[in-house]
Amino acid sequence: MNAHQHYALLRRKPRALALRRIIQEVVKPGQMVLDAGCGSGLLSVWAAQAGAIVVGVDFADLALARALATENGVADRTTFLQGDLNAIGLEEHGPFDVLLAMVYLKDPRRDHGASAMVHDLGRHLRPGAVRVPDQVRYTAQALDCRSQHFASRMADLDRGVKELEVAFGMRMDSFRSAMGHRPPKEAFPVRDDAGVVLLPDARALSEVRPWHTVDYSLPATPWPDHLALTMNAPGSFTTVLWQQELMFRDALIFRNGSVGWVHPAPEVAAGDTVRSRTGTEWHIDNLLLPV
Ligand SMILES: C[S@@+](CC[C@H](N)C(=O)[O-])C[C@H]1O[C@@H](n2cnc3c(N)ncnc32)[C@H](O)[C@@H]1O
Repeated sequence: MNAHQHYALLRRKPRALALRRIIQEVVKPGQMVLDAGCGSGLLSVWAAQAGAIVVGVDFADLALARALATENGVADRTTFLQGDLNAIGLEEHGPFDVLLAMVYLKDPRRDHGASAMVHDLGRHLRPGAVRVPDQVRYTAQALDCRSQHFASRMADLDRGVKELEVAFGMRMDSFRSAMGHRPPKEAFPVRDDAGVVLLPDARALSEVRPWHTVDYSLPATPWPDHLALTMNAPGSFTTVLWQQELMFRDALIFRNGSVGWVHPAPEVAAGDTVRSRTGTEWHIDNLLLPV
């Protein structure tokens, strides 16, 4: 992430302020804190201001984090290491009393690796160490939402490529198939600053249902290989609305919405249960295919 992306993240002030409250509550002077995925270094600075010795790690360039720590007078209590948390040696820096690990992306299909990594960081923690978040919960709800109908979007794409084939007098199947995989950013709806996905044309077809919980007080459990939702209204089941909830001591830190595309989108009646695979096609193409 670059400075603009960090700025956009920090503009979601309720997220940052909730994290600051937690840091001020749990971090004690003299403790060792690991800020995994420290990014801008903001959480590291707050932990250092609470009196901790902080190690921040990120893939990205850490010049911004170092400068933020310096301008806020905590450079002597912060160390920033650039590298992959899966590979970087932390043995000489720990063990840690507090793990801040805000490494999640906004979409559950991309969180498997992050949660496995955060579980693994447990080996650098003291017994009884505090983890923030300590749980990540995922829920799902069935929607009828034409603007998030995969088959319509592919038909539009197909029409566009055919127009180019006519205009250029050539075949462009390669483009059609390359663009059909790995959805572009523009295919997803926008979110507001509170992490809410904006879908003005959506209609709920089911209740919000729990799907998976990552609980860091327990050993890692496998992620479900499918999603089952029972409808309470009729419609065209085009879309799943996911919510990712980052939790600390059963209180919500922040919630992120995202969508998945049910393909083919079935016509459903109240009482129907639809089962979709949360396997490779979902991870790569965001497609929820029938079980
Ligand atoms: C959502 S940002 C959070 C930044 C900051 N901690 C905050 O809460 O404002 C996640 C950060 O984690 C970093 N990250 C994710 N996986 C990582 C990994 N395996 N190794 C190092 N950094 C990682 C990303 O580069 C990104 O800067």
